[in-house]
Amino acid sequence: MANTRAWWKEAVVYQIYPVSFFDSNGDGIGDLNGIYAKLDYLKDLGVDVLWLSPIYRSPQADMGYDISDYRDIDPQYGTLADWDNLIKGVHDRGMKLMMDLVVNHSSDEHEWFLQSRSSKDNPKRDWYIWRPPKYDAAGNRQPPNNWRSVFQGSAWDYDEKTNEYYLHLYVSKQPDMNWDNPDVRQAVWDLMNFWIDRGCDGFRMDVINIISKVDGLPDAPITEPGQPYQPASTLFANGPRVHEYIKEMNKKVLSAQDLITVGETPFTHEASELAAYVLPSNKELNMVFHFELMDLDSPGVPLIHRDWKLSEFREIVGRWQKYRRSEGFWNAIFIENHDHSRAVSRFGNDSEEWRAPSAKMLAMLEISLGGTQYVYQGQELGLKNFPRSWGIKEYKDVASQNYWNRQVSILTERRARSDGQDIDMSDVLDGFAKKARDHARVPMQWDSTDQAGFTTGTPWMRVNEDYKDWNAATQLGFQDSVLTFWQQALRVRKSNDVLVYGDFVDISADHARVFAYTRSFENTTALVILNFGEEVVSFSLGSQQDWSRFSFVLGNYQVASPEPAQNPIRLEGYEGRLYVRA
Ligand code: GLC
Ligand code: CA
Repeated sequence: MANTRAWWKEAVVYQIYPVSFFDSNGDGIGDLNGIYAKLDYLKDLGVDVLWLSPIYRSPQADMGYDISDYRDIDPQYGTLADWDNLIKGVHDRGMKLMMDLVVNHSSDEHEWFLQSRSSKDNPKRDWYIWRPPKYDAAGNRQPPNNWRSVFQGSAWDYDEKTNEYYLHLYVSKQPDMNWDNPDVRQAVWDLMNFWIDRGCDGFRMDVINIISKVDGLPDAPITEPGQPYQPASTLFANGPRVHEYIKEMNKKVLSAQDLITVGETPFTHEASELAAYVLPSNKELNMVFHFELMDLDSPGVPLIHRDWKLSEFREIVGRWQKYRRSEGFWNAIFIENHDHSRAVSRFGNDSEEWRAPSAKMLAMLEISLGGTQYVYQGQELGLKNFPRSWGIKEYKDVASQNYWNRQVSILTERRARSDGQDIDMSDVLDGFAKKARDHARVPMQWDSTDQAGFTTGTPWMRVNEDYKDWNAATQLGFQDSVLTFWQQALRVRKSNDVLVYGDFVDISADHARVFAYTRSFENTTALVILNFGEEVVSFSLGSQQDWSRFSFVLGNYQVASPEPAQNPIRLEGYEGRLYVRA
């Protein structure tokens, strides 16, 4: 089943974070015409599909993931006419375009919410999730339950006008819609069709697994004693009617089209829960973004770093590669996006010496795994996290800001109690330097002119100072660059179906530094050997195959006489090799 061919399985999707991609008019903010200007760059890279993070009209409380008009473009990005022009440019080049569908919540400035909050008997009251207050023993007004918002304190905001609270699992300006109301669902199907009719080729669906909340909205169990608000994802992720709603979406919208669909599915560690969205027999989505790899270097709290082990990394990748393939489960292969710091800083080595080799090694990992390939803007250049020396004011993300403010207030309280203690935030900044979403959101590095060629004005976010050496212009056409390597690597993927469809076998044999595997499809087998460390290593191939029949296809080092595969293989620091036996 997993071997059933489809265009969207073979596609390379490139995620654009529009605000930081390319500014065409000098206001410091990337825009649709800026994307248009770079279409040939993307085509030459080997991209098939563009996914745009949200560009709809929005107050930008969470960088456009708070939409106030689903049928219009935010003026900072351009106009609907610019979008029409962009989609034409995309289609003319044989590429496709996906939009970000953010419909668990809207902006509090959306007309629907303005109406909803206007009175208890407004016809749209029930489009959002309103509940009366609770009162504690002392008679103080309290939120309806103890749920914690993902980015701030209580998940409820009090609205004086009608003396009720509304639910927002993200910030206050992102009220959750009530998907149990069929009119809400119809409104979503309508807006999806609005974009499909205009030419959109698919959707990335923001936090789509949290649209159905547990009936009655009970308190979350106390897992963090002493805290007023508790993590509640067990009560809102993969809720009771989520599959009913996505099946309805499929039936009413998706099934009539040949689209690419990917759901973002956080807060879920049970594979079978995710399979339900993806297995073709369920008729829901093409694939989902699971979070296991992305959560690997956090102790459960996003902005804190933990060291990870290669054995853990291999286990996660391998398990998903093999997961329910005979039933048609399909993976989304990604290692970067706008919600995570840079892959070369997390899973590679961003020191001067190892940055390029490890970025290329990670590219080899990506192009040799089974699933639809996603590349995040700047990943193809080996862009890394910005320096630890940047202060808190450079972190623009509401998640970073809220977390910071919360830590400041905790420490301030503590100081008031134990008096005199200095407030030391350096450990918080240590965490941010490794983990903050901001690292992926700095301007794209196009060339070595001012502001990395991103804008002629003042960029909305500071440009990483390494841009003089690390940018698209200096890498383009330069034989040893990370960009040239990505171009080659994507060509290799496209000319070897085994890399898209093949069955995965981990042959690492518990090596401390090496991740090695084979992929097999029809009569072809690919062999991938990746060194995840700086040291030179020797790796012994087992007796699974006649390795002498494998020819060298791609590597991130010049290899003198790489054919056929030697056994044992000696690998330089962060060296990767790909062999294929035809
Ligand atoms: C998703 C988005 C993220 C956003 C959140 C709330 O996780 O990827 O950027 O903050 O949803 O919409
Ligand atoms: Ca602009």
